[in-house]
Amino acid sequence: MARSALLNVMVQAAMKAGRSLSRDFGEVQNLQVSLKGPGDYVSQADRKAEEIIHAELSRARPGYAFLMEERGEVAGEDDQHRWIVDPLDGTTNFLHGIPIFSISIALERQGQLVAGVVYNPAMDELYTAERGGGAFLNDRRLRVAGRSKLSDAVVGTGVPHLGRGHHGNFLVELRNVMGEVSGIRRLGSAALDLAYVAAGRMDGFWEQGLSPWDIGAGILLIREAGGFVSDKAGGQDMFDTGDLVAGNEAIHRALLKTLKKPVPAR
Ligand code: IPD
Ligand code: CA
Ligand code: CA
Repeated sequence: MARSALLNVMVQAAMKAGRSLSRDFGEVQNLQVSLKGPGDYVSQADRKAEEIIHAELSRARPGYAFLMEERGEVAGEDDQHRWIVDPLDGTTNFLHGIPIFSISIALERQGQLVAGVVYNPAMDELYTAERGGGAFLNDRRLRVAGRSKLSDAVVGTGVPHLGRGHHGNFLVELRNVMGEVSGIRRLGSAALDLAYVAAGRMDGFWEQGLSPWDIGAGILLIREAGGFVSDKAGGQDMFDTGDLVAGNEAIHRALLKTLKKPVPAR
């Protein structure tokens, strides 16, 4: 498959960071048994991956701005372009030796998502999308799943945990959704959740409390695979609200409706 020069730059950065994360992941598996655990080691792995991506992208496209999870906003001379990067999405999985984690890189041009890459180094799965050019898993063109009923659907989500708010609200949503679907999954990497929806592996997804670097690339993957993405109000303010609902047209619509249902009376 011939990739554009832009996607090549992004893929190269993601794969280089992926090699670094893979080496560190091997070590993390050894460190599980130590008393202190691999916590500090993982923070270092995360920062190292971000460093690699920053260096690669800055070299290939000097002047573009960045929004990165560890560094935050980095201004650039080019005010038209901004990279949105999560160097390690699925940190808790990585820390526990669970091979479900990813690197997420998106590019915005004049505030619009134009390219996205999500890479899972442990499975060597590379998801790419460019606006108007479709979405791919390695060389295979992606299409969201065709199931149109929630009763047939497997839906991904993120479960809030210690240190995160909205526990009560999540429980209400979960109660509404779990009674209507065929299964719920919590992978632990929002970027991969969205890639899985693009690939038709999951029929839908919802979560709140997300950051732009978790979802930038995944939003484009889903759109380019023919899917629908919105915030919970049905608008396009996912970066500002931090909430996101996705699926094919029918599942997206049904999920939005189900999520809004009031708490059932006892
Ligand atoms: C997290 C993962 C997780 C989602 C959390 C994110 P991190 O990102 O994407 O699936 O539920 O909301 O913060 O911390 O592993 O980069
Ligand atoms: Ca993340
Ligand atoms: Ca992260």
